[in-house]
Amino acid sequence: MKREDIVICRCEDITLGEIRECIERGATTLEEIKRELRCGMGPCQGTTCMPLIRRELARYLCMPVEEIDLPTKRPPLIVSKFESILEGKESEE
Ligand code: FES
Repeated sequence: MKREDIVICRCEDITLGEIRECIERGATTLEEIKRELRCGMGPCQGTTCMPLIRRELARYLCMPVEEIDLPTKRPPLIVSKFESILEGKESEE
């Protein structure tokens, strides 16, 4: 297996190669990478992949990891009960 084929975001099935291509196309923030590849938007909300992608971006930009801002967390706009989701009902406001 090549390094490029290593899956970094397991929720969205994004490989290291895809992340590197995104950075080489000009992405300079985690937010840009997230918007283009959807990594960090899976069920774990980036808990697993964002630290790895952050480190890769820092390495590419020759910056300390701490200087790479984490993407903005966006909570759901409308609170929904799991019961409603499972039953396919519209959200209660
Ligand atoms: S591993 Fe990337 S969103 Fe879960």
